[in-house]
Amino acid sequence: MKKEIVLTGITTTGTPHLGNYVGAIRPAIQASQMDNVESFYFLADYHALVKTHDPERFRQSTLEVAATWLALGLDTDKSIFYRQTDIPEIMELAWILTCIAAKGLLNRAHAYKALVAENEKKGPGDPDKGISMGLFCYPVLMAADILMFKANKVPVGKDQIQHLEMTRDMAGRFNHIYGETFVLPKAVTDKQSAVLSGLDGRKMSKSYDNTIPLFAPEKKLRKLIMKIKTNSQRPEEPKETAGCTLFEIYQAFADEAQVDQIRQRYAAGIGWGEMKQIVFEHLNSLLSEPRRKYQDLIADPTHIEKVLKEGAEKARAQSIPYLSEIRKKIGVQAIGR
Ligand code: TRP
Repeated sequence: MKKEIVLTGITTTGTPHLGNYVGAIRPAIQASQMDNVESFYFLADYHALVKTHDPERFRQSTLEVAATWLALGLDTDKSIFYRQTDIPEIMELAWILTCIAAKGLLNRAHAYKALVAENEKKGPGDPDKGISMGLFCYPVLMAADILMFKANKVPVGKDQIQHLEMTRDMAGRFNHIYGETFVLPKAVTDKQSAVLSGLDGRKMSKSYDNTIPLFAPEKKLRKLIMKIKTNSQRPEEPKETAGCTLFEIYQAFADEAQVDQIRQRYAAGIGWGEMKQIVFEHLNSLLSEPRRKYQDLIADPTHIEKVLKEGAEKARAQSIPYLSEIRKKIGVQAIGR
């Protein structure tokens, strides 16, 4: 049987948080443990360049994200774990795809449109103010990441579904022009809890500054959980689980029996203070072991560098020959002998 190819990346900006774990890291690590799957996981550091122009932060974030995946149990013998900037073939493919992608397609990207809308709200002036070509072309680079390794399935948060649609669009256009070349990938989202809410109830996201870092020290973890927004219901009042951030976070990390129990407590009335304490204790017990591993890894960047270099070697064993096929198709060939 042909192996399924699962691939995902994490942009190396900021410190990885619970939302990243639930939306991408956890399903990815689970998939990597299956026998009929070949998995590719990478640090999307060129994507991070869209947001960060601070070299020290750029480097530090790469280290933190790499340590996160390793601490959470990614098995680098069973999966290919690499850093985007170690694979020059991806950049070359990105340009080839840039020439295939319709500009109109990229105009419709949610992230880009949101920034334009913000500029327009501020009044007359340049609607593209502060928007780099890197941001505009972000979906093209993402398509290159995915198509380079013939991924069938891409575990992502729901906010990335449009990027997968765009990837399929570009792949389809290329195949139409040059003949069957690319595999059309599908987004895989964890239905139950792909997008987690943050401290303020909006989606947990670095851009809203409402995240709970995965490896916050115990004290900090408690402090953040105590800050999660709740309503003003009194402890004895029965409460809704739907739309409750605390419940949602708990649910994302608990098994069915545990969730059922908490659901009953909500129905009977539970104080927010008590629920916060439950969420804290639950998360802390799950995260304390990986947190310790994470700290050991951060203290040994040489080890991480070695792991990434080994991953790059495995990845390039595939990307180099595949890119040379793609170059031939578009006509990059010797023009004489
Ligand atoms: N855009 C993704 C995110 O912000 C990160 C990413 C970059 C990615 N390239 C990818 C995810 C390729 C999946 C596949 O979460």
